[in-house]
Amino acid sequence: MSFQKACKDIFTGCEGSMVIEMEQNRTPLLDAVEDLIDTKPAYFRIPGHRLNRGISSRWTKNTGDLIFSYDVTETPLTDDLHAPGGAIEEAQKLLSDLYGADESFFLVNGTTCGNEAMILSAAFEGQEIMVARNAHKSAMMGLVLSGAVPVYVMPSTIADWGIQGEIAPEGVRALFREHPHCTALFLVSPTYYGICSNLREIAEICHENNALLLVDEAHGGHLYFDGEAAADRRRGALQCGADICVQSMHKVTGALTQSSVLHIKNHGVRSEVLSRVAQNLHLVQSTSPSYLLMISLDCARYELAMHGECMYEKAAGLAESARSRINGIVGFRCFGKADGCVFDETRLVISARGLGLSGFALDELLFETYGVNVELSDHENVLAIVTYANEAQDLERLVGACAEIGAAYRGQGGENDTRVIMERVHFPGLPKQCITPRQAYFSAKKEVSWADAIGKISGQVLAPYPPGIPVLYPGEMISPEAWAYIEDFRKKGRHIHGAGKNGKLEWIKIIV
Ligand SMILES: Cc1ncc(COP(=O)(O)O)c(C=O)c1O
Repeated sequence: MSFQKACKDIFTGCEGSMVIEMEQNRTPLLDAVEDLIDTKPAYFRIPGHRLNRGISSRWTKNTGDLIFSYDVTETPLTDDLHAPGGAIEEAQKLLSDLYGADESFFLVNGTTCGNEAMILSAAFEGQEIMVARNAHKSAMMGLVLSGAVPVYVMPSTIADWGIQGEIAPEGVRALFREHPHCTALFLVSPTYYGICSNLREIAEICHENNALLLVDEAHGGHLYFDGEAAADRRRGALQCGADICVQSMHKVTGALTQSSVLHIKNHGVRSEVLSRVAQNLHLVQSTSPSYLLMISLDCARYELAMHGECMYEKAAGLAESARSRINGIVGFRCFGKADGCVFDETRLVISARGLGLSGFALDELLFETYGVNVELSDHENVLAIVTYANEAQDLERLVGACAEIGAAYRGQGGENDTRVIMERVHFPGLPKQCITPRQAYFSAKKEVSWADAIGKISGQVLAPYPPGIPVLYPGEMISPEAWAYIEDFRKKGRHIHGAGKNGKLEWIKIIV
């Protein structure tokens, strides 16, 4: 049963109508928790703050206390994430219906735990699994848990922007020839920067090779609502043939931080793996999942079902207008259609290289002088994520700040200006893998000075953050190239995961 719903409201702020399933008009978990609150229980369960009574007034004086009543636990009314048979089961079913999955799961430990569970399910100790080298470090954690042997596939480089691009289907095909026993391919699409791989073709290649396509779609849960993507590759992973995908609903939709979802679609390939996923999610998730997070997933799904296309359109429209205005500022440019990639139009990749400003420097200026917070920066670019919840005035501030920076810095810069990009960044090639991430994780290690680390076998991960893509995995030889790449981040004082307690990367753990 379906009906037309005019979707102009304060949530989306845009007009339009879409056909939605009547069923999607429900929020079973929100309703169940409200039913529990309505019983005005004498509460002797966990959590100890007793609904809205026990949270510090230091906090509630600003927020009010009602929201804390929703922080409850498993009861006969509120179901159990680890054995769902009521409200959570219904909410997850609505989610899988919306996304076209066979089965969907709420995750309360982010896409991080979903990626771990995917890899843990897909490959046992000693089995080969193909992993995109631009994968988030949660893939490495999955490899440590499973003991699988990674076979890395390199993404393309978009040299003009100093960023990594798509995973090419030809590269995947060639690697399957060399490693026909890979049980799965794990990749990220879209990337942090919004670059989409040709998942349809890659899914076919995987399935021809009796391998699963596992997609880290942390940044892509909104793409399913891009009405114009129907004919191109900017479509959701499930629509393109992925077997499992994970989405950070907190990154691009209205769910709270840490709230993600995992979807399964059975294509008849390695079906036994799919049945292991639920069990492996128990391994990587809390036994006390937060109801605030799960309710936020239920409500985010509801809003997408009601207004998803409007929400996407609004974000894409705001981003497109900002893109064209920033492109008009001398010294600035934005990644766009002319760069020849399929990309998520709601991502704004902005470079002020024309002014001699690195992405890091631009980020600092935007933050410190204009209060404009972008998601991340690199040597060349800053990345702004535009969502349905941004308003035109946010983009005004971004564009206005770029215009002022453009006026201030035109004609400045030069060799002695530390903000100037002296050279383009080259991503290091694949370091030699000496032992698997799991073997490395459990091996004896010692610390050596970072300055003396070249040629040693790394006992740890090193990943500039964000985006959290490891340059070195545990068990890999520290090549001069990888060392120099990380050293550049270290010298600039950038945040590196694995850089020790003081973050200065004075020492590194190596395998003894
Ligand atoms: C590509 C990618 N995958 C996974 C993650 C981890 O997601 P979460 O923060 O939901 O755990 C991130 C986080 O930034 C990411 O960028």
